[in-house]
Amino acid sequence: MFKNLVPTIFGAVVICAAAAVPTNAADEIDAARVQVCSACHGQNGEPTNPATFPIIWGQQANYLYKELHDYHSGDRNNPIMSPIAKGFSLEDLRKVANYFAAKSWPPSHAAAAPTSAPDGIAVCKTCHQPNFEGGAPAPRLAGLSYEYLLAAMNGFADDQRTNNLDMPTLMRALTPSQREAIAHYLSAL
Ligand code: HEC
Ligand code: HEC
Repeated sequence: MFKNLVPTIFGAVVICAAAAVPTNAADEIDAARVQVCSACHGQNGEPTNPATFPIIWGQQANYLYKELHDYHSGDRNNPIMSPIAKGFSLEDLRKVANYFAAKSWPPSHAAAAPTSAPDGIAVCKTCHQPNFEGGAPAPRLAGLSYEYLLAAMNGFADDQRTNNLDMPTLMRALTPSQREAIAHYLSAL
């Protein structure tokens, strides 16, 4: 009598083979298509003007993809990056992100790291990691320029950059001089 109640589970085959597909040429972006990036982000990972162009070599892959996605969709706006990102499909932007994430972060030029951590920086480690080298989804901050870091932090505080829910509140909780001190510290790491 109960045989009709037995659930039919045999059709529920989980296909997970896709995860095991090895990397091949089709997963990689043609280097010629990303050559344009080096005009600003640098031939060797050192931006041609670090004050305005962030380091992308060796940055977290998930973060790079999210930012490229956001420039593409309009969630993050920049007159230079938005049209560049819109020139790629989302699928290709994933490959672009992986391409730059696999490279090495350029060596630091800081004379010496500041001795004491500034006020208000402890909370940042929760997401940006204790060494500030980032981890999904938070980007690496260590070694970005003072000018870029400060502009990014102020951009969140001033609602210019709205593509994240936590960062605006966190940045508004800091005074402008705390933001400057934190940017100085992180740029010297
Ligand atoms: C003409 C200069 C220029 C070129 C060329 C350029 N970028 Fe950018 N890029 C910038 C600037 C300026 C910013 C910072 C924009 C902002 O504040 O939103 C930026 C930001 C980024 C970011 C966000 C990084 C972060 O830390 O938030 C990524 C990712 C990025 N660019 C990737 C690329 C890639 C990939 C290419 C090539 C396909 C490229 N860029 C070409 C100037 C450039
Ligand atoms: C709750 C997790 C979290 C905490 C805490 C946090 N951040 Fe972030 N932060 C993020 C994420 C996620 C992003 C990427 C936002 C996006 O999508 O653009 C980010 C982005 C940034 C950026 C932009 C980097 C770039 O390349 O453009 C800076 C600068 C930054 N955070 C500084 C800080 C500082 C300083 C603190 C501490 C006062 C802090 N963050 C605390 C999660 C966090």
